[in-house]
Amino acid sequence: MAKTMKPTEQTEVSEAQIAVHWKEEAYYQPSEKFKAQANMRDPHIFERFGLDKFPDCFKEYADMLTWFEPYHTVLDTSDAPFWKWFVGGKINASYNCVDRNLAKYGTKAAFIFVPEPEAERDVVIKYQELYDRVNEVAALLRGLGLKAGDRVTFHMPMVPELPITMLACARLGIIHSQVFGGFSGQACGSRIQDSGSRVLITMDSYWRNGALVDHKANADIAVRTAKDLGQDVDKVLVWQRYPGKYSGKTPMVPGRDFFVNDLLKDYKGQEVEPVALPSEAPLFLMYSSGTTGKPKGAQHSIAGYLSYVTATSKWILDIHPDDIYWCMADIGWITGHSYIVYGPLANAATSVLYEGVPTFPDAGRPWRIAERLGVNIFHTAPTAIRMLRKLGPQEPRKYKYQFKSMTTVGEPIEPETWRWYYDEVGKREAVITDTWWMTETGGFLGTTVPAIHAMKPGSCGPAAPGIHPVIYDETGAEIPKGSGKAGNICIRHPWPGIMQTIWGDHDRYIKTYYGKYNKNPRSKDWRDWPFLCGDGAVQAADGYYRILGRIDDVINVAGHRLGTKEIESACLTVPEVAEAAVVPVQDEVKGRVPEVYIAVKPGVQPSQEVIDRVIKANEEVIGKIARPKHVYIVPDMPKTRSGKIMRRVLAAISNRRDVGDVTTLANPDVVEQIRIMVQGKDTVTTHDALPEDIAKFGQAE
Ligand code: WTA
Repeated sequence: MAKTMKPTEQTEVSEAQIAVHWKEEAYYQPSEKFKAQANMRDPHIFERFGLDKFPDCFKEYADMLTWFEPYHTVLDTSDAPFWKWFVGGKINASYNCVDRNLAKYGTKAAFIFVPEPEAERDVVIKYQELYDRVNEVAALLRGLGLKAGDRVTFHMPMVPELPITMLACARLGIIHSQVFGGFSGQACGSRIQDSGSRVLITMDSYWRNGALVDHKANADIAVRTAKDLGQDVDKVLVWQRYPGKYSGKTPMVPGRDFFVNDLLKDYKGQEVEPVALPSEAPLFLMYSSGTTGKPKGAQHSIAGYLSYVTATSKWILDIHPDDIYWCMADIGWITGHSYIVYGPLANAATSVLYEGVPTFPDAGRPWRIAERLGVNIFHTAPTAIRMLRKLGPQEPRKYKYQFKSMTTVGEPIEPETWRWYYDEVGKREAVITDTWWMTETGGFLGTTVPAIHAMKPGSCGPAAPGIHPVIYDETGAEIPKGSGKAGNICIRHPWPGIMQTIWGDHDRYIKTYYGKYNKNPRSKDWRDWPFLCGDGAVQAADGYYRILGRIDDVINVAGHRLGTKEIESACLTVPEVAEAAVVPVQDEVKGRVPEVYIAVKPGVQPSQEVIDRVIKANEEVIGKIARPKHVYIVPDMPKTRSGKIMRRVLAAISNRRDVGDVTTLANPDVVEQIRIMVQGKDTVTTHDALPEDIAKFGQAE
């Protein structure tokens, strides 16, 4: 892998090369106890959801929802690839997540909110209270003149007010667009502009790592950024972390900023009929990164999306109404939308909502919460698992919780970490479900069905019922299972949870997800439209998939997608910077972290000050998660004769690998200079294969 390769050779990673990192692993079986209680244990499920049963098999998913009017067509492909699921039906997501649970579960907790400060008490929100609060907020939004089809941007932390406001929007058909709370005000502002929101809903402050963060300041920046981009925001609605008290530092702008709690006084006790909306009306937008510098707003539908997350929450997460379920993710990402809010609530779950950092104040915190609240289903990302393991490998033993099931999501989990999760966190009793999917897909794609399949560390498993993946090589030929070759994983068909389009950019939707493998753009047959997921993968002989990472120059930092073009544009906002290149570096905790190489403009002296500015620019334009591990000021970028920056060479240097043959570059000498700068004179590089996403880095254009 270290030598220079032609692009076509790069996909042909042999099983032997991959085995440098991950060997084929032994199976682990789910316990009889788990199997006996599981929601899905029908071994014929995969026949019922065979490709020959497509798309009618998904009627079973639609049947899990309560409809105001029945649908007449399961899947309408007449405007392919803009799929319409369950056409003709009328439905409401808020009704399905809240109202329909009242009769049976009104007095049961929907959410148990755990504040980060340990001295603060939990807040239990029962389904009846959730109903009351969602209705009041819906009445308020309606009172402000908002209606079905309008977009509203949220920039909220992990507090119960976030799902409450989402469900209030869903009640009216308002399309919500939640921006991850850790993103900067500027990042929020550009998403406000793209979605055309006139209302921003935020919170004054929240706890993170022991500090009360002033969050309202970001709203001021967001509104200013949106305005500069041409989008006016009329109203900023500010929730208070401590109701009745303002914990922000920037002044409220008269006529623009309002405390939600003040406005709500006029809507006490009001009820709002859930609007009967068409199945394919949009429910929300979720922005995510891709190959270009502009994040894309994945648009998800009401009925298709909701049916998909409801069914997978029931069958894969195995949520029963009497479980205590905890997804330790942030609602600001797709995982939280699908598997904290919509899927679990539609299954009448009781779910834990934790405000803060998993390791605050120490690495025992999650296990204390689990013990105290009797959590029995736990869901988190490999980054959190690695961090908890690093800081407190023995901590789980000190607490008497007992999980029946655990999930991992967001990044490949290496077998060693998997085994710690299994042995220590799951105490060798809990099943582990490794769920592979993405923002665009709404819910799980690659996974085991936990009571049916054995687990295999490092592989996500086969696929969810009704999902039929295929791995294609660069030419569009199928790569057979067991061949040991990697390729681009696609799904052969649409499914209810699939995104509808990219908000405001139908062409980009077609080009990004279908451009590579669709052979007939006029076809109305779904068979002509395999969906390109954006990951490299290999399928072992047993049918299990191993995911090798993104193929589109997206760096997956601690499970969060960051586009290299976004980071590079942030660097270029620093006036001294002439050129910037970002590469992924392997990190023991976060999986991947970005490293930045910059060249300064003529006459500018390289200095720590420039480096600090580059770091600050990333924090301001994107957010703290985009903070580069290192910034190197180089004399020149390694370039091809046609002037293209060779990010692959920089990635090899950053990852302490041999750079291979660089003699064909326009400026080969600079490579050695950079190598010494980064690695020091005497560093011994290795020829070990790089993980696929890094090896192929810098090729997507
Ligand atoms: C990666 C998160 C390996 C993958 C739900 C995907 C995974 C990207 C897994 C999507 C997994 C997610 N194993 N890799 N179980 N789950 N990924 O859109 O590269 O934030 O393309 O959605 O995360 O990230 P996104």
